[in-house]
Amino acid sequence: MTSSPPDKTPITLTEKTAWLKDRYWRFGMEEVLEDHLHDLFEIDDEGEMTVQPRIDPLTGESKGLMVLGRSGDGKTALLKRTLRASSTFTERTDDQEGNTLYITVPPEATIKKIAELILAKTGYHKLDPRARSADAWEMVMHRLGLAGIRMIVIDECHHIFRKGSGRDVMGAIQSLKHIMQSAGGVALIIAGVPSLRGEILSEPSGETFRRFQEFHLSDIRPGTREAKLFETNFGKSAAMLGIEVPDEAFLPERILFAKHGQVGRSIELGKAILHDAVARKRGVLSFERAEAIYRKSSSGFDMTPFHAAEWGAVQQELEALGWGQ
Ligand SMILES: Nc1ncnc2c1ncn2[C@@H]1O[C@H](COP(=O)(O)OP(=O)(O)O)[C@@H](O)[C@H]1O
Ligand SMILES: [Mg+2]
Repeated sequence: MTSSPPDKTPITLTEKTAWLKDRYWRFGMEEVLEDHLHDLFEIDDEGEMTVQPRIDPLTGESKGLMVLGRSGDGKTALLKRTLRASSTFTERTDDQEGNTLYITVPPEATIKKIAELILAKTGYHKLDPRARSADAWEMVMHRLGLAGIRMIVIDECHHIFRKGSGRDVMGAIQSLKHIMQSAGGVALIIAGVPSLRGEILSEPSGETFRRFQEFHLSDIRPGTREAKLFETNFGKSAAMLGIEVPDEAFLPERILFAKHGQVGRSIELGKAILHDAVARKRGVLSFERAEAIYRKSSSGFDMTPFHAAEWGAVQQELEALGWGQ
């Protein structure tokens, strides 16, 4: 897998804003995801991953991976970025050929609706509205082979397990299994909130669950390699935008603390603070602005992690106030 080309330095305010918005900040889980992907596909004589999913000779089924994390943990950003950076897998869209489908399940979707979404992504729009769900899924298995699809990512997958009229858990599990039973093999990645794991585990035989590897996104803890990476990303983006980050302020540490190390949320706050400096044409970051931005999305405490005092003391005070309980 390759990485994106080096950036051109953004000059105008518009360029800077657009540059920052698109920036992906590596947080150390990219390699872990790639490692998981390697397990789903055959390798060639050189040890390189191929696009051929590994198939269990006993069942004829391919394997799957579940990516689990709370909303805002950065699942979607990580999966999309992995696809963008990959030279092996390309997303199939209306204007691009590709061997990978990326489906985002809408909250209200039925199981048949997912089949329709997949069919549409493979270029098939003629599904008879009266078709039964089981027939639609038979079509899916067929179309995936025809279209040369080797991997499907189903994001927000927990939505297919929502209880309510016309929804059944076993039907949802069966539909996932259909994908893994498609002709030629299709590796399946499902992403969702942690309860997704329990839904799949609820199948009495547990056989679908056993086909999935698990990848849990975790928070960035202080003092770890991931925390260091966050600080580096923050610093590099600031430098690219021509913004100075005062060393003694410990801003990256404060941002991670403010968002309890939750990856996506911490990155969002970090970018919001940088964006504010760009928009206001300030060359240096300040506690005052960071605090103002933080307060826009958080309430509760009088004191914030961006209180203008020595970081160790602020942290102690906040913890004494019950921060993070
Ligand atoms: N590594 C990253 N680099 C840049 N932005 C990120 C990164 N991870 C998450 N984000 C941003 O954080 C927010 C939440 O991330 P998202 O991927 O949507 O989380 P999830 O899918 O787990 O709910 C999004 O605005 C996303 O763009
Ligand atoms: Mg998401």
